[in-house]
Amino acid sequence: MCGIVGYVGGRPALDVVVEGLARLEYRGYDSAGVAVLADGKLATAKRAGKLVNLRGALEDEPPPEGTLGMGHTRWATHGAPNDRNAHPHVDCTGSVAVIHNGIIENFAELRAELEENGHRLLSDTDTEAVAHLLEDEVKAGGGLVEAMRRVCRRLEGAFTLVAVHTGDPDLVVGARRNSPLVVGVGEGENFLASDVAAFIAHTRNAIELGQDQIVELRAGGVTVTDFEGRPADVKEYHVDWDVSAAEKGGFDYFMLKEIAEQPQAVADTLLGRIGADGRLHLDEMRIPDRELREVDKIIIVACGTSYHAGLIAKYAIEHWAGLPCEVELASEFRYRDPILSPSTLVIAISQSGETMDALMAVRHAREQKAKLLGICNVNGSTLPRECDGVLYTHAGPEIAVASTKAFLTQLVAVYLIALYIAQVRGTKWGDEVFAMVQLLERMPEKVEKVLETMEPVRELARSLSGEHCVLFLGRHVGFPVALEGALKLKELAYMHAEGFAAGELKHGPIALIEEGLPVVVVVPPRAREVLHDKIVSNIQEIRARGARTIVIAEDGDESVEPYADTLIGVPAVPTLLQPLVTTVPLQVFACELASAKGHDVDQPRNLAKSVTVE
Ligand code: AGP
Repeated sequence: MCGIVGYVGGRPALDVVVEGLARLEYRGYDSAGVAVLADGKLATAKRAGKLVNLRGALEDEPPPEGTLGMGHTRWATHGAPNDRNAHPHVDCTGSVAVIHNGIIENFAELRAELEENGHRLLSDTDTEAVAHLLEDEVKAGGGLVEAMRRVCRRLEGAFTLVAVHTGDPDLVVGARRNSPLVVGVGEGENFLASDVAAFIAHTRNAIELGQDQIVELRAGGVTVTDFEGRPADVKEYHVDWDVSAAEKGGFDYFMLKEIAEQPQAVADTLLGRIGADGRLHLDEMRIPDRELREVDKIIIVACGTSYHAGLIAKYAIEHWAGLPCEVELASEFRYRDPILSPSTLVIAISQSGETMDALMAVRHAREQKAKLLGICNVNGSTLPRECDGVLYTHAGPEIAVASTKAFLTQLVAVYLIALYIAQVRGTKWGDEVFAMVQLLERMPEKVEKVLETMEPVRELARSLSGEHCVLFLGRHVGFPVALEGALKLKELAYMHAEGFAAGELKHGPIALIEEGLPVVVVVPPRAREVLHDKIVSNIQEIRARGARTIVIAEDGDESVEPYADTLIGVPAVPTLLQPLVTTVPLQVFACELASAKGHDVDQPRNLAKSVTVE
C-alpha cells in the first residue's frame, strides 16, 4: 500500500526521493507526490496516476533544489485518487508538510475540531488533519518532534507519518504505529522508507522501528524515542541483498524473474537448517523443544497466497507431526471466538510481515496467551517482532504484487516446521521424516525441471486470452494449489477463476461446466492410488460435459492422457511435496495470460503488495 520516502543529506533530495518512490511502485498506488525543502520554503508537487505523471509535472515546473525532501505513493482509502487528495498535505501556513500510510480512525472528529478552530482543509483525506494539528502544536512550542509526539497521542488507528517543517530545515520526523517504517543509515545522509528497497541503492544499513516510536532524522544522525519522549532501544541490521535483487535483471517483468528464482529461493530457505546427520536444526524458532512437546493444537493465520501455504501446512502438520491443525483467514480470526490456550501454537504466515490482518490476528492470539511463531520473508518487518519466534524464508525481495517465490519458500518453511515438530515429538513417522528431509533437499532441482518445460504452458495461456472464466480442481494438497492457481489468474488476468476441491464438484460446481470451459485439474501422484483414481474420474465427468481439460500430472502418468486436452507433466515427488512443483505451471500460466491481455503484470489494478490497513 502507500509508499513513503524521506531523505536528508547532501544530495539533491528530489532525485533520491523520486528514485525511492520508483522502487516502491510495486507496493501498489494510484497517485504520487513529493515535497522538497529549499531556501527555507516548502515546494510540493502531486499528481493522480502513476509516477510518470508526477515526473512530467516536475519537469514542467521544477522545484528549487534542496537536500531535504519526502515523497509518497498513495493507495486511496479516504477520498478519490486525484491530485487534491494525493500526499503531501500542508497546513494553512504552508510551512508543515505531511505524508501518511494507514488509516486515522478518529479523523472525522479531528477535522471537525480543526474546522471549528478556523483551519481550512482542502482534501477529503484523513491525513490532512495531521498537517493542521502539527501546525497548532508547532505554534504551541517545542519544535516539530515534540509536536509530532503530541499529535500522535491524539490519533487512533494505524499510521506511519513523516513530516517536515520550514522552521527546522535539517529535520525529517517520522512516527509509526501499526504501519511500516524503516530507517536507512548512510554517511552524512539518512533515509526513511516504507521498506528498504527505497534506499538499498544508497545504504544497506537499516534500523527497525518499533511500535509507537518517533524518529528524528538529520543529515548527521538519527534519534529514536517513544511517543512520551523516552529514548528507545534501536535494532540496527544489515540488509543481506543488494540493489540488483530489486531490479528486473533482463526479464520483462519482476514476476518472471521471481518465478525463475524459485529453485534458488527454495535452496536458500533450506540452507543451514539440515544437519549432516539429516536432522533439522531450527534454533531460530526460539520456542524450546520442551514447549513444542507441550503443544496440543496448531492454528495457522494468514491472508491470500500465504493462507494457501497455510492450507497445505495443515496436511503436513497433521500427517507428520500428528497434531490437530486449523487454518484461518487472518481477517476473520479475531472476529470470532477461537479457542486458544498456552498450549496452542499459532503460526502466522506473511511474506511482507506487515499485513495488518495478520498482525491483528497475532495480537489477538497473544492476548489469549498462545505461543506465536511467524513465517516471514522481510527482515526488519513487524511480524517477527510480535512473535515468540520466527522462521525466515529466504526468497529475497519479492517485488511483483503476485506472490510466487515467497509462496514456494513458505511451503518449504511449513514443511520444515512440520518435520521439526515431528522430530522433537518423536512421532511414529520417524523414518518418513528422515526420508522427507532428504527429498526436500532435492526440490530445487525438481522446480528447475518444471521451469525448463514451460513453453507449452505459455502457448496454452496465450490461446486462452479470450476466455472469461477458468476453473481449477484439486484434491488433498492439490486443492489449495487449485485455489492458488485461481487467485493468480484473478489478480493478474482479471478473469473469473475459481478453485474447487474436486470431491465437491457434484455438490454444485459441476453445474458451471459447459462446452469449451477451460478446467485445470491438479492430479495427485499415482502412488496415492485412491486419490489419484478419484480425480481421474472427475476429469472424465467434466470432459463428458464439454469441459476443455488442462491436466497437471506427474511425468509418465498415462492414465490421464485419454482425458486431457492439454497435459502438463511435472516431476514425480511425494504427495505432500507436490505443491512445490504443481504450483509453478499455474504461476507461468497466469503471468503469460495477463501479459497476452496487455495487463500490467507486476502491478495489477487495485492491488497493493502488502495490505497494511484492515
Ligand atoms: C498474492 O499473490 C497476493 N498478492 C496476496 O494474496 C498476498 O499473498 C496477501 O496479501 C498476503 O500478503 P503477506 O504474505 O505479505 O501477508
